[in-house]
Amino acid sequence: MHVTPLRWEGGVLFLLDQRLLPREEIWVACRTANEVAASIATMVVRGAPAIGVAAAYGMALAAERGDDLDDAASTLKRARPTAVNLAWAVDRMLRASRAGADLTREAELIHREDVEANMRIGRHGAQLLGERATVLTHCNAGALATAGYGTALGVIRAAIEGGKHVAVFADETRPYLQGARLTAWELQQDGIDVTLITDNMAGHFFQQNRFDAVIVGADRIAANGDTANKIGTYTVAVLAHAHDVPFYVAAPISTIDPDCPDGTAIPIEERSAQEVVEVFGSRVAPEGIAVRHPAFDVTPARLVSAIITDRGVLRAPYESSIAALFEERVHA
Ligand code: MRU
Repeated sequence: MHVTPLRWEGGVLFLLDQRLLPREEIWVACRTANEVAASIATMVVRGAPAIGVAAAYGMALAAERGDDLDDAASTLKRARPTAVNLAWAVDRMLRASRAGADLTREAELIHREDVEANMRIGRHGAQLLGERATVLTHCNAGALATAGYGTALGVIRAAIEGGKHVAVFADETRPYLQGARLTAWELQQDGIDVTLITDNMAGHFFQQNRFDAVIVGADRIAANGDTANKIGTYTVAVLAHAHDVPFYVAAPISTIDPDCPDGTAIPIEERSAQEVVEVFGSRVAPEGIAVRHPAFDVTPARLVSAIITDRGVLRAPYESSIAALFEERVHA
């Protein structure tokens, strides 16, 4: 059984505190939508699909307590702006409430569907890898970032389960170190061959032809295929392009925002300077220094070799492959 970042027990949402991993495994109990929103904002739980599922349970908690659902929805949506899965899950819960559905059951359904979507992403994506492959990944798009199994790491898991020999290089992913702390930890738990590098080592290993593919997750994919993901992803995509290495984005269709025309319309979260000037509470930069901290960047669609979704592998031109996917859903 792979790690899971959240569980619903006795009407309480328990979140594995990802700020403390891999040193400690502590579960945080959330009993209100406000507590869930705070856990999303402070990154107790993170990763686009995982925050969507957590927010769905936040709405269920609000309904259970008789809180105002529109208030709960806006508090949850404000917690982090870039991952569209958050708004997608909250809006789905609002629609379910208007239709008179049981919100706990709806959240459980969103939870289950996300695991199933990841398994399908894994199956579609595994076909893109050769019998032996070394894959570079950035940030953590694994079981910890979803309801389980993972998107980018789900592809790697599915390929290995299918008998392929896949080794992973994980970028440490400054400043929050999702690669060093989370990807390294969860792959190690599964006995998957993983090598940790700092972000600025990637170019060196591309030059040495070390990588057969890059696979990353996404926080929001625009209608033209432009993709927002963890800061540093664009740099990796440029390197992959320069070295003729395929660059794959793995994401469920709940990460595609058909109302967002291109990457310029994606809101980019700016996080606190403290996360840049400090490493685990120790200051590494001089007092008073100017700091910027965009938490995500946008990789233009022309650098994306394919988007691996739960509905199959999309290729350029993405305007039409994405539009066709949403057409199918309308007619499904
Ligand atoms: O700031 P984070 O850790 O929430 O950022 C997460 C990412 O950028 C992931 O790659 C993305 O959410 C996809 S997770 C399957």
